[in-house]
Amino acid sequence: MGPLRLALLLALVSQHAFGDITVYHAQRPMTTGVNSAGVPSHTGLPAYDPTTLNPPPIPADVMKTIPVNLLNSGTVGMSIKQKGSFMGFSIEMSVTNQVLGKNSSLIQVPFLNLMANIQQRAGSVMVRVGGNTQESAKLVDSLPNGRILMKDLQNVTGTTQTPPLDYTTDMLYLMRNVSSFVNVHWFLGIPWFVTKPFDTAIVTASDLILGDYLLGLQASNEPDMYVLHQHRPQNYGPFDYLGEFSDFLGQVAATNADPTGRATKNLIGPNIATFAWTLEQVWDTGFVDTYNANLAYLAAEKYPDQNCEARFGDPAKGVKPQEVLQNYLMHSRHKELLGQYLNTTMYLQTKNKPFLMFETNTASCGGFLGISDAFVSALWGIDYALQMAHSNFSGAMFHLGGQSVYYNPFTAPPTNESSFHGWTIGPIYYSALIMAEALGPSNNSQVLDLPIQGLSDSTPVYAIYENGVPKRVAIVNYVNDPSHTNDISVVISLGNQDGTKTTPASVKVKYLAAASVVQKGNITWAGQTFGGNFESDGRPMGTEDIKTVTCDGNAKTCTVVVPAPGFALVFLSDDAMTEDKGLPSKTFATTAKTKFRNTVTIDPAVLATSNGNKFSDHELAGTSKPPSAAPRTAGVSIAVVSMFVGAVVALLGRAL
Ligand SMILES: *[C@@H]1O[C@H](CO)[C@@H](O)[C@H](O)[C@H]1NC(C)=O
Ligand SMILES: *[C@@H]1O[C@H](CO)[C@@H](O)[C@H](O)[C@H]1NC(C)=O
Ligand SMILES: *[C@@H]1O[C@H](CO)[C@@H](O)[C@H](O)[C@H]1NC(C)=O
Ligand SMILES: *[C@@H]1O[C@H](CO)[C@@H](O)[C@H](O)[C@H]1NC(C)=O
Ligand SMILES: *[C@@H]1O[C@H](CO)[C@@H](O)[C@H](O)[C@H]1NC(C)=O
Ligand SMILES: *[C@@H]1O[C@H](CO)[C@@H](O)[C@H](O)[C@H]1NC(C)=O
Ligand SMILES: *[C@@H]1O[C@H](CO)[C@@H](O)[C@H](O)[C@H]1NC(C)=O
Ligand SMILES: *[C@@H]1O[C@H](CO)[C@@H](O)[C@H](O)[C@H]1NC(C)=O
Repeated sequence: MGPLRLALLLALVSQHAFGDITVYHAQRPMTTGVNSAGVPSHTGLPAYDPTTLNPPPIPADVMKTIPVNLLNSGTVGMSIKQKGSFMGFSIEMSVTNQVLGKNSSLIQVPFLNLMANIQQRAGSVMVRVGGNTQESAKLVDSLPNGRILMKDLQNVTGTTQTPPLDYTTDMLYLMRNVSSFVNVHWFLGIPWFVTKPFDTAIVTASDLILGDYLLGLQASNEPDMYVLHQHRPQNYGPFDYLGEFSDFLGQVAATNADPTGRATKNLIGPNIATFAWTLEQVWDTGFVDTYNANLAYLAAEKYPDQNCEARFGDPAKGVKPQEVLQNYLMHSRHKELLGQYLNTTMYLQTKNKPFLMFETNTASCGGFLGISDAFVSALWGIDYALQMAHSNFSGAMFHLGGQSVYYNPFTAPPTNESSFHGWTIGPIYYSALIMAEALGPSNNSQVLDLPIQGLSDSTPVYAIYENGVPKRVAIVNYVNDPSHTNDISVVISLGNQDGTKTTPASVKVKYLAAASVVQKGNITWAGQTFGGNFESDGRPMGTEDIKTVTCDGNAKTCTVVVPAPGFALVFLSDDAMTEDKGLPSKTFATTAKTKFRNTVTIDPAVLATSNGNKFSDHELAGTSKPPSAAPRTAGVSIAVVSMFVGAVVALLGRAL
């Protein structure tokens, strides 16, 4: 890439936040954390950089007592019906072997646990394996040393310096094997850079191996950026994409690449970044009607900001995280960003097609140090996810890469440290977990961003309804105020349209908490945490703490205080509690193993099924014993401790 081209790319990029790119070469190391004196303070991998920002100033206009009067029927403006699995994850294809497992028989137990937490609340989890690396991915018969994927570093191409990726069918078996432990359903993508002919190997293989666990295949990834990245000539537009879709279907039919006929009924388009094209331009080609029988979902990809200039261009011109921190703490900005999709989500309802945000996160090109890895993004992630649900998206996926980015919902330790380090759980994993709990497993939840008169931009309030009846209230307080003057009191009442009140005697509340919006690690959800860097095995730690708020019987109101900063999920009745209403834990007869295999005797399936202090409620691996006969939590804690101790001892032994 010439300097001119880079300048052009960056000029364009600085005006449009676009879909993510993962870069492998020539990237400026992101190890540029500086302390307040401007001295570099971190020389390790970016994902673990402890640099924090200064909290933003306190806004002046905060409405501190917020009336929330909910009706049991007749509410207008609610979203379409949503599933608890609304918020899923998008894993850059090239890091699949770090995140899911080394191969189909060495599955990462922390990943299973992280997915099990969501499935317990939502019933299932959506995971996409793809991103830029899907475009040049090639299915090969075998790779050296039994690897499931490998980057071809000799053949790096394009502005993002993405190397072609070779993978074997064992990557697909790994995904399929994950689904036999936890109810994960998958998205993959078809390489679309080369169209004459298309490489359809993934179509045939993924349908064969994943079967019903394959939700859909992306037909291209961000085609409206192909011209910029020199994959198409200058005049390439939505009609050309329409034609390629047709060519693809023709080739699949001619070569019998989809023998079951399932894959070509489950395609996803146009997956644009709304960078060079609008969605309306694509709809205006007749895309949805033309391929009605082939399209399972329509999708787009969007990040609110970008860190590309800082990473590939002139760092002096790059976005300064401190300067954009407050953008993430303003509800109206998230609403405005998603406003551009409302025409599309109304249009697609008339076509009976779900619309997905296929890839998103705090900022493309790895996110921002001090924002993407701090409490601010957990609050942003909840508001953004609820706003997407309110805006009639049908799902969204938080993107994650390797250890060289800031924004991961979860990060596996570097391979050379995986035998003694645990995983690092990022703030937006909490957002996804809470979203699963806020929507629950009914497939029937409707979200409404409550239009409350005089509400400040720092304190969005959402109600979640089932069959028109309010079930849960979600409240974000973005204000960072150590004095607690800006803690807010949300005064909730329930009633019928005729004015009679049905406010309950008490409500249950779960809080997401941290001391400040810039805090890293140690976030708690109802008192439980996934800890700090390298501290997690994917299960929440600590004792769950659910608050009961007694309501005022005379005023018929329940007052819930939300700290500044913080988030509260209010359960308006006991049947509104969703934590254990997803898919029940399964009994696993097989073993999933990680690098710990040489040093532990724990059955890893125990880890996969257990969940903090709820562990003793579930059946255990390979036994089918009734819950009462199951070992207690303490047994597992000991097993986990000995696992880590054992691993460290083994490592030291080797080092000595
Ligand atoms: C996975 O890797 C392990 C260790 O390298 C190996 O023993 C095992 O045979 C591999 N499994 C498959 C299915 O390739
Ligand atoms: C680079 O890719 C080309 C085309 O796929 C291939 O012929 C060539 O062998 C590759 N080079 C290396 C060094 O792998
Ligand atoms: C995982 O996939 C392999 C195919 O490579 C299969 O033989 C094996 O039984 C699967 N393991 C589990 C635990 O499902
Ligand atoms: C909304 O979408 C329809 C269908 O693509 C299009 O015709 C119309 O112009 C769009 N309206 C706006 C305001 O973008
Ligand atoms: C979502 O769809 C519902 C049902 O069509 C509609 O009433 C509501 O206004 C839509 N919400 C937004 C924000 O467009
Ligand atoms: C593992 O690799 C990373 C990145 O190359 C390096 O920073 C770290 O020191 C290595 N750890 C060990 C224990 O060698
Ligand atoms: C929700 O939908 C999923 C399919 O997406 C289905 O498997 C599940 O049974 C449904 N749950 C309920 C409660 O209907
Ligand atoms: C997180 O909590 C642990 C245990 O309480 C403590 O040792 C650690 O310093 C805390 N880390 C941060 C970043 O607050």
